[in-house]
Amino acid sequence: MELREQFKEIFGCEAEEVYSAAGRVNLIGEHVDYCGGQVLPAALSLKCRVAVRKNGTNFMRVAATDIPARAEIDLDATENYKNLKWGNYQAGVADEMKKAGYRLVGCDILYDCSVPFGSGLSSSAAIEVATAYALARTGGNYVDKKELAVISQRAENNYCGVNCGIMDQFASANGKRGHAVLLDCATLDFEYIPLDLKNCVLVLSNCNKPHNLVESKYNERRTEVDSALKLLRKQIDANDLAHIQPYLLEEHRTLLTPLLYRRAHHVVSECDRVRRSVEALQDGDLERFGRILNESHKSLKEDYEVTGKELDALAEAAQKHPECLGSRMTGAGFGGCTVSLVRKTGVEDFIAKVGKEYREKIGYDASFYVAEVSEGIIDEG
Ligand code: GLA
Repeated sequence: MELREQFKEIFGCEAEEVYSAAGRVNLIGEHVDYCGGQVLPAALSLKCRVAVRKNGTNFMRVAATDIPARAEIDLDATENYKNLKWGNYQAGVADEMKKAGYRLVGCDILYDCSVPFGSGLSSSAAIEVATAYALARTGGNYVDKKELAVISQRAENNYCGVNCGIMDQFASANGKRGHAVLLDCATLDFEYIPLDLKNCVLVLSNCNKPHNLVESKYNERRTEVDSALKLLRKQIDANDLAHIQPYLLEEHRTLLTPLLYRRAHHVVSECDRVRRSVEALQDGDLERFGRILNESHKSLKEDYEVTGKELDALAEAAQKHPECLGSRMTGAGFGGCTVSLVRKTGVEDFIAKVGKEYREKIGYDASFYVAEVSEGIIDEG
């Protein structure tokens, strides 16, 4: 059923507007956003659509198309909904918007999210940014997409207890069709890099790993890199890890334990790979870009240790496929997706072979999507 029709069925009246915010794939620059590094994500056509109308009350009433979940959030008491099973992202965004001085009005919102949950393609960022945009617009506020991304990140950090960086929300809000977003996470300056993939496409492979403990492991890595920076700052003048040159890290590696050295080495080398990837893309050299994707996966596996056997199985099978130029895990890791650069003519065979090898090794199926790089926020009217 069409979203507007479902809205009418659930809320008993017509929706006034429909908006959407995108899921994202990160092409390269993994686990560096919270270290002040540059990242290169792109918004996807997988997205969170919302149908909205003002309801004349002081409540935000939210519902979803795919699950029977419903919630009612009192806009005068937004701080009280942290324990909602479903609806806490929305409450968190409303809470942070109020703190930032936005005018909020009561409204009904129906969510329809095509970003697979737990896929590492940022379904939560898409929900947050769609909520922030819908609330900003219904309240008649001035809309700045950069600021909506920051507010959405704060909601996830402060309200939902996930210590994520800015990348996902930023890409979800500011992505552009056919472009990747080169974002400097230290300054939030960004530029669009045209994504001319010629005879190739990006294939997203979801490892479908159940129950992965992403949040605790993620927070553990953040603590580790904070410790590494603290130790390095005894001898190096740097505000963040991403700005430490690789040779300086080598010169001062004795300041770190072997484990902290590997974590820092990932960050520093990944930042270098982002620079080289942008050059390769600008030169139209997709083979080179593909090789850098492979290097990134290796670093995430060996130095940062955020891959796991499922993502490794997918990346390994992809990397040896003759039509694949490069493949790596994308997002937080521990589960979720890989992104692979594959020649269009080889996509079907790629999916068949990688899918088969994965099933044989892991015991259940992976899912595959050909990525379409799209706008971040869309105002459907
Ligand atoms: C998650 C976080 C991002 C980023 C990535 C890893 O997606 O939400 O902020 O840290 O992991 O690159």
